[in-house]
Amino acid sequence: MNLNKSYNIRSVGPAGIPVIGLGTWQLTGKQCSQIVSQALQLGYEHIDTAQAYSNEAEVGQGIKQSGVAREKFFLTTKIFPDDLKFKPEKLLAAAECSLENLGVDYVDLLLLHWPDSRVPLSETMPALCELQKQGLTRNIGVSNFTIDYLLEAKAHADLPIAVNQVEFHPFIKQDNLQAFMSNHHIPLEAYSPLARGKVFDNAIIKNIADKHGISASQVSLAWILTDKKRIAIPKTATPEHLQDNLNAINVQLDSEDIAQLNSLASPDGRLVEHPDYTPDWDN
Ligand SMILES: NC(=O)c1ccc[n+]([C@@H]2O[C@H](COP(=O)([O-])OP(=O)(O)OC[C@H]3O[C@@H](n4cnc5c(N)ncnc54)[C@H](OP(=O)(O)O)[C@@H]3O)[C@@H](O)[C@H]2O)c1
Repeated sequence: MNLNKSYNIRSVGPAGIPVIGLGTWQLTGKQCSQIVSQALQLGYEHIDTAQAYSNEAEVGQGIKQSGVAREKFFLTTKIFPDDLKFKPEKLLAAAECSLENLGVDYVDLLLLHWPDSRVPLSETMPALCELQKQGLTRNIGVSNFTIDYLLEAKAHADLPIAVNQVEFHPFIKQDNLQAFMSNHHIPLEAYSPLARGKVFDNAIIKNIADKHGISASQVSLAWILTDKKRIAIPKTATPEHLQDNLNAINVQLDSEDIAQLNSLASPDGRLVEHPDYTPDWDN
Protein backbone atom coordinates (compact mmCIF):
# COMPACT_ATOMS: atom_id res chain seq x y z
CA MET A 1 0.00 0.00 0.00
CA ASN A 2 1.14 3.50 -0.80
CA LEU A 3 1.36 5.01 2.68
CA ASN A 4 1.25 8.68 3.61
CA LYS A 5 0.56 9.85 0.10
CA SER A 6 -0.97 13.30 -0.02
CA TYR A 7 -4.07 13.59 -2.21
CA ASN A 8 -5.71 16.75 -3.33
CA ILE A 9 -9.18 15.93 -2.01
CA ARG A 10 -11.75 18.60 -2.79
CA SER A 11 -14.14 19.57 0.01
CA VAL A 12 -17.77 20.64 -0.12
CA GLY A 13 -19.72 23.49 1.48
CA PRO A 14 -18.92 25.79 4.38
CA ALA A 15 -18.30 22.71 6.58
CA GLY A 16 -15.46 21.70 4.23
CA ILE A 17 -16.47 18.05 3.92
CA PRO A 18 -13.92 16.00 1.94
CA VAL A 19 -15.72 14.51 -1.09
CA ILE A 20 -14.66 10.94 -0.38
CA GLY A 21 -14.97 9.39 3.05
CA LEU A 22 -14.75 5.89 4.48
CA GLY A 23 -18.13 4.42 5.48
CA THR A 24 -17.87 2.05 8.44
CA TRP A 25 -21.24 0.31 8.70
CA GLN A 26 -20.70 -3.42 9.39
CA LEU A 27 -17.01 -2.93 10.23
CA THR A 28 -16.36 -4.40 13.65
CA GLY A 29 -13.52 -5.34 16.00
CA LYS A 30 -9.90 -5.38 14.84
CA GLN A 31 -10.88 -5.29 11.19
CA CYS A 32 -12.61 -1.96 11.82
CA SER A 33 -9.70 -0.33 13.67
CA GLN A 34 -7.20 -1.62 11.10
CA ILE A 35 -9.07 -0.37 8.06
CA VAL A 36 -9.72 3.03 9.67
CA SER A 37 -6.02 3.31 10.51
CA GLN A 38 -5.00 2.24 6.98
CA ALA A 39 -7.45 4.66 5.41
CA LEU A 40 -6.08 7.62 7.37
CA GLN A 41 -2.49 6.62 6.64
CA LEU A 42 -3.32 6.23 2.97
CA GLY A 43 -4.63 9.78 2.76
CA TYR A 44 -8.36 9.55 3.56
CA GLU A 45 -9.45 12.73 5.31
CA HIS A 46 -12.99 11.71 6.17
CA ILE A 47 -14.43 8.87 8.30
CA ASP A 48 -18.16 8.19 8.79
CA THR A 49 -19.51 6.22 11.76
CA ALA A 50 -22.68 6.15 13.88
CA GLN A 51 -23.83 5.05 17.29
CA ALA A 52 -26.00 2.44 15.59
CA TYR A 53 -22.95 0.76 14.00
CA SER A 54 -21.67 -0.18 17.50
CA ASN A 55 -18.12 0.52 16.34
CA GLU A 56 -17.30 4.02 17.59
CA ALA A 57 -14.72 2.61 20.03
CA GLU A 58 -13.01 0.63 17.23
CA VAL A 59 -13.09 3.65 14.94
CA GLY A 60 -11.46 5.60 17.78
CA GLN A 61 -8.78 2.92 18.16
CA GLY A 62 -8.11 3.08 14.42
CA ILE A 63 -7.71 6.84 14.66
CA LYS A 64 -5.15 6.43 17.46
CA GLN A 65 -3.30 3.62 15.65
CA SER A 66 -2.99 5.74 12.50
CA GLY A 67 -0.98 8.42 14.28
CA VAL A 68 -2.75 11.01 12.14
CA ALA A 69 -3.45 14.24 14.02
CA ARG A 70 -7.09 14.90 14.87
CA GLU A 71 -7.27 18.18 12.95
CA LYS A 72 -6.11 16.45 9.73
CA PHE A 73 -9.37 14.61 9.06
CA PHE A 74 -13.13 15.07 9.14
CA LEU A 75 -15.02 12.81 11.55
CA THR A 76 -18.77 12.22 11.45
CA THR A 77 -21.02 10.35 13.83
CA LYS A 78 -24.78 10.05 14.11
CA ILE A 79 -27.19 9.92 17.01
CA PHE A 80 -29.83 7.20 16.67
CA PRO A 81 -33.42 8.09 17.66
CA ASP A 82 -34.05 5.03 19.85
CA ASP A 83 -34.79 5.63 23.52
CA LEU A 84 -36.20 9.07 22.59
CA LYS A 85 -32.61 10.37 22.31
CA PHE A 86 -33.76 13.34 20.20
CA LYS A 87 -35.41 14.81 23.31
CA PRO A 88 -33.31 17.81 24.37
CA GLU A 89 -32.68 16.38 27.82
CA LYS A 90 -31.14 13.22 26.27
CA LEU A 91 -29.28 14.66 23.28
CA LEU A 92 -26.31 16.09 25.19
CA ALA A 93 -25.65 12.80 27.02
CA ALA A 94 -25.89 10.89 23.71
CA ALA A 95 -23.34 13.19 22.05
CA GLU A 96 -21.00 12.99 25.06
CA CYS A 97 -21.22 9.19 24.92
CA SER A 98 -20.11 9.23 21.25
CA LEU A 99 -17.13 11.50 21.99
CA GLU A 100 -16.10 9.23 24.84
CA ASN A 101 -16.38 6.08 22.71
CA LEU A 102 -14.46 7.70 19.87
CA GLY A 103 -11.82 9.10 22.24
CA VAL A 104 -12.02 12.59 20.76
CA ASP A 105 -12.89 16.06 22.09
CA TYR A 106 -15.11 16.95 19.16
CA VAL A 107 -16.53 15.57 15.94
CA ASP A 108 -16.67 17.57 12.72
CA LEU A 109 -20.23 16.60 11.96
CA LEU A 110 -23.02 15.31 14.18
CA LEU A 111 -26.08 13.94 12.39
CA LEU A 112 -29.60 12.96 13.41
CA HIS A 113 -29.51 9.45 11.90
CA TRP A 114 -33.21 9.11 10.95
CA PRO A 115 -36.15 11.47 11.46
CA ASP A 116 -38.21 10.63 14.54
CA SER A 117 -41.86 11.66 14.30
CA ARG A 118 -42.29 11.19 18.07
CA VAL A 119 -40.10 14.16 19.01
CA PRO A 120 -40.86 17.54 17.36
CA LEU A 121 -37.92 19.14 15.54
CA SER A 122 -38.88 22.36 17.33
CA GLU A 123 -37.39 20.63 20.40
CA THR A 124 -34.51 18.69 18.81
CA MET A 125 -32.99 21.29 16.48
CA PRO A 126 -32.29 24.01 19.09
CA ALA A 127 -30.72 21.32 21.30
CA LEU A 128 -28.61 20.05 18.38
CA CYS A 129 -27.47 23.62 17.60
CA GLU A 130 -26.53 24.01 21.26
CA LEU A 131 -24.14 21.05 20.94
CA GLN A 132 -22.31 22.88 18.15
CA LYS A 133 -22.25 26.09 20.19
CA GLN A 134 -20.75 24.18 23.12
CA GLY A 135 -18.03 22.77 20.84
CA LEU A 136 -18.93 19.07 20.90
CA THR A 137 -19.28 19.22 17.13
CA ARG A 138 -18.06 21.65 14.47
CA ASN A 139 -21.17 21.19 12.31
CA ILE A 140 -24.63 19.70 12.55
CA GLY A 141 -26.67 17.84 9.97
CA VAL A 142 -29.33 15.25 9.30
CA SER A 143 -29.72 11.92 7.55
CA ASN A 144 -32.64 10.28 5.74
CA PHE A 145 -34.55 13.57 5.90
CA THR A 146 -37.26 14.27 3.30
CA ILE A 147 -38.11 17.74 1.99
CA ASP A 148 -40.81 18.19 4.64
CA TYR A 149 -38.47 17.19 7.45
CA LEU A 150 -35.72 19.45 6.05
CA LEU A 151 -38.09 22.41 5.93
CA GLU A 152 -39.05 21.82 9.55
CA ALA A 153 -35.44 21.30 10.64
CA LYS A 154 -34.33 24.52 8.94
CA ALA A 155 -37.18 26.47 10.53
CA HIS A 156 -35.98 25.49 14.01
CA ALA A 157 -32.20 25.76 13.55
CA ASP A 158 -30.22 28.98 13.97
CA LEU A 159 -27.13 27.30 12.48
CA PRO A 160 -26.73 25.88 8.97
CA ILE A 161 -27.60 22.26 8.22
CA ALA A 162 -24.25 21.15 6.83
CA VAL A 163 -25.52 18.07 5.02
CA ASN A 164 -28.35 15.61 4.47
CA GLN A 165 -26.86 12.11 4.27
CA VAL A 166 -29.14 9.97 2.10
CA GLU A 167 -29.04 6.88 -0.07
CA PHE A 168 -27.60 7.81 -3.44
CA HIS A 169 -26.18 5.78 -6.33
CA PRO A 170 -27.03 5.40 -10.03
CA PHE A 171 -30.13 3.22 -9.41
CA ILE A 172 -32.14 5.48 -7.04
CA LYS A 173 -34.35 8.41 -7.99
CA GLN A 174 -33.68 11.39 -5.75
CA ASP A 175 -34.56 14.20 -8.19
CA ASN A 176 -37.07 16.14 -6.07
CA LEU A 177 -34.97 15.95 -2.92
CA GLN A 178 -31.82 16.95 -4.80
CA ALA A 179 -33.50 19.94 -6.44
CA PHE A 180 -34.77 21.13 -3.05
CA MET A 181 -31.40 20.67 -1.37
CA SER A 182 -29.58 22.42 -4.18
CA ASN A 183 -31.95 25.41 -3.93
CA HIS A 184 -31.34 25.56 -0.18
CA HIS A 185 -27.57 25.02 -0.45
CA ILE A 186 -27.60 21.77 1.52
CA PRO A 187 -24.93 19.35 0.22
CA LEU A 188 -25.94 15.73 -0.43
CA GLU A 189 -23.82 13.06 1.23
CA ALA A 190 -24.30 9.81 -0.68
CA TYR A 191 -24.55 6.70 1.46
CA SER A 192 -24.45 3.23 -0.13
CA PRO A 193 -22.76 4.93 -3.12
CA LEU A 194 -21.90 1.51 -4.62
CA ALA A 195 -25.51 0.37 -4.13
CA ARG A 196 -24.13 -2.17 -1.65
CA GLY A 197 -22.33 -3.97 -4.47
CA LYS A 198 -25.07 -3.78 -7.13
CA VAL A 199 -22.93 -1.49 -9.31
CA PHE A 200 -20.60 -4.45 -9.94
CA ASP A 201 -23.36 -6.45 -11.66
CA ASN A 202 -24.59 -3.76 -14.05
CA ALA A 203 -23.62 -4.16 -17.72
CA ILE A 204 -23.70 -0.42 -18.53
CA ILE A 205 -21.45 0.40 -15.58
CA LYS A 206 -19.10 -2.46 -16.50
CA ASN A 207 -18.86 -1.18 -20.10
CA ILE A 208 -17.99 2.34 -18.97
CA ALA A 209 -15.41 0.92 -16.57
CA ASP A 210 -13.83 -1.18 -19.35
CA LYS A 211 -13.83 1.77 -21.76
CA HIS A 212 -11.74 3.86 -19.35
CA GLY A 213 -9.76 1.01 -17.80
CA ILE A 214 -11.15 1.78 -14.33
CA SER A 215 -13.26 -0.12 -11.78
CA ALA A 216 -17.07 -0.16 -11.57
CA SER A 217 -16.70 1.38 -8.13
CA GLN A 218 -14.82 4.33 -9.60
CA VAL A 219 -17.51 4.79 -12.25
CA SER A 220 -20.22 5.08 -9.62
CA LEU A 221 -18.20 7.34 -7.32
CA ALA A 222 -16.99 9.59 -10.15
CA TRP A 223 -20.57 9.91 -11.41
CA ILE A 224 -21.77 10.94 -7.92
CA LEU A 225 -18.99 13.52 -7.74
CA THR A 226 -19.89 15.08 -11.11
CA ASP A 227 -22.16 17.32 -9.02
CA LYS A 228 -19.79 19.50 -6.99
CA LYS A 229 -22.20 19.62 -4.05
CA ARG A 230 -22.12 15.85 -3.50
CA ILE A 231 -19.97 13.72 -1.20
CA ALA A 232 -19.65 9.90 -1.20
CA ILE A 233 -18.78 7.55 1.66
CA PRO A 234 -18.10 4.06 0.24
CA LYS A 235 -17.55 1.33 2.80
CA THR A 236 -14.79 -1.20 2.40
CA ALA A 237 -13.12 -3.80 4.57
CA THR A 238 -10.55 -4.54 1.86
CA PRO A 239 -7.30 -2.53 1.84
CA GLU A 240 -6.97 -2.61 -2.00
CA HIS A 241 -10.45 -1.17 -2.32
CA LEU A 242 -9.47 1.80 -0.15
CA GLN A 243 -7.02 2.92 -2.82
CA ASP A 244 -9.39 2.09 -5.67
CA ASN A 245 -12.16 4.21 -4.16
CA LEU A 246 -9.90 7.14 -3.32
CA ASN A 247 -8.58 7.22 -6.89
CA ALA A 248 -12.12 7.94 -8.09
CA ILE A 249 -11.46 11.63 -7.34
CA ASN A 250 -9.23 11.76 -10.45
CA VAL A 251 -11.63 9.98 -12.84
CA GLN A 252 -13.15 12.05 -15.64
CA LEU A 253 -16.32 10.64 -17.18
CA ASP A 254 -17.45 11.94 -20.57
CA SER A 255 -20.92 13.26 -21.39
CA GLU A 256 -21.96 9.97 -23.01
CA ASP A 257 -21.05 8.04 -19.81
CA ILE A 258 -22.92 10.53 -17.68
CA ALA A 259 -26.05 10.33 -19.86
CA GLN A 260 -25.99 6.53 -19.64
CA LEU A 261 -25.53 6.59 -15.87
CA ASN A 262 -28.30 9.17 -15.49
CA SER A 263 -30.68 6.73 -17.21
CA LEU A 264 -30.22 3.92 -14.66
CA ALA A 265 -32.41 5.32 -11.86
CA SER A 266 -35.80 3.72 -11.29
CA PRO A 267 -38.61 4.15 -8.74
CA ASP A 268 -37.78 0.78 -7.15
CA GLY A 269 -34.03 1.47 -6.92
CA ARG A 270 -34.04 2.21 -3.18
CA LEU A 271 -32.21 -0.36 -1.04
CA VAL A 272 -32.28 1.02 2.49
CA GLU A 273 -35.32 1.33 4.74
CA HIS A 274 -35.64 1.30 8.50
CA PRO A 275 -38.52 -0.67 10.06
CA ASP A 276 -39.26 2.02 12.65
CA TYR A 277 -38.09 5.31 11.16
CA THR A 278 -38.52 5.24 7.35
CA PRO A 279 -40.24 8.52 6.39
CA ASP A 280 -42.62 9.09 3.46
CA TRP A 281 -39.86 9.40 0.80
CA ASP A 282 -40.04 12.20 -1.78
CA ASN A 283 -39.62 10.08 -4.94
N1 LIG B 1 -27.21 7.33 7.22
C1 LIG B 1 -27.65 6.10 6.99
O1 LIG B 1 -28.81 5.75 7.32
C2 LIG B 1 -26.76 5.12 6.28
C3 LIG B 1 -27.31 3.95 5.74
C4 LIG B 1 -26.43 3.10 5.07
C5 LIG B 1 -25.09 3.39 4.97
N2 LIG B 1 -24.57 4.54 5.54
C6 LIG B 1 -23.13 4.88 5.45
O2 LIG B 1 -22.69 4.74 4.10
C7 LIG B 1 -21.60 3.82 4.05
C8 LIG B 1 -21.54 3.08 2.72
O3 LIG B 1 -22.75 2.41 2.42
P1 LIG B 1 -22.90 0.81 2.48
O4 LIG B 1 -21.97 0.28 3.48
O5 LIG B 1 -24.36 0.55 2.67
O6 LIG B 1 -22.57 0.28 1.02
P2 LIG B 1 -21.60 0.66 -0.22
O7 LIG B 1 -20.49 1.54 0.22
O8 LIG B 1 -22.49 1.11 -1.33
O9 LIG B 1 -21.06 -0.78 -0.65
C9 LIG B 1 -20.20 -1.53 0.15
C10 LIG B 1 -19.89 -2.84 -0.59
O10 LIG B 1 -19.06 -2.54 -1.75
C11 LIG B 1 -17.86 -3.31 -1.67
N3 LIG B 1 -16.76 -2.47 -2.19
C12 LIG B 1 -16.34 -1.27 -1.72
N4 LIG B 1 -15.36 -0.77 -2.50
C13 LIG B 1 -15.14 -1.68 -3.46
C14 LIG B 1 -14.26 -1.74 -4.57
N5 LIG B 1 -13.42 -0.73 -4.84
N6 LIG B 1 -14.28 -2.85 -5.36
C15 LIG B 1 -15.14 -3.87 -5.10
N7 LIG B 1 -16.01 -3.88 -4.08
C16 LIG B 1 -16.03 -2.77 -3.27
C17 LIG B 1 -17.67 -3.63 -0.21
O11 LIG B 1 -16.97 -4.85 -0.07
P3 LIG B 1 -15.51 -4.84 0.63
O12 LIG B 1 -15.73 -4.46 2.06
O13 LIG B 1 -15.00 -6.21 0.44
O14 LIG B 1 -14.69 -3.83 -0.12
C18 LIG B 1 -19.13 -3.80 0.26
O15 LIG B 1 -19.59 -5.08 -0.05
C19 LIG B 1 -21.86 2.93 5.27
O16 LIG B 1 -20.73 2.15 5.60
C20 LIG B 1 -22.24 3.95 6.28
O17 LIG B 1 -21.10 4.63 6.77
C21 LIG B 1 -25.41 5.41 6.18
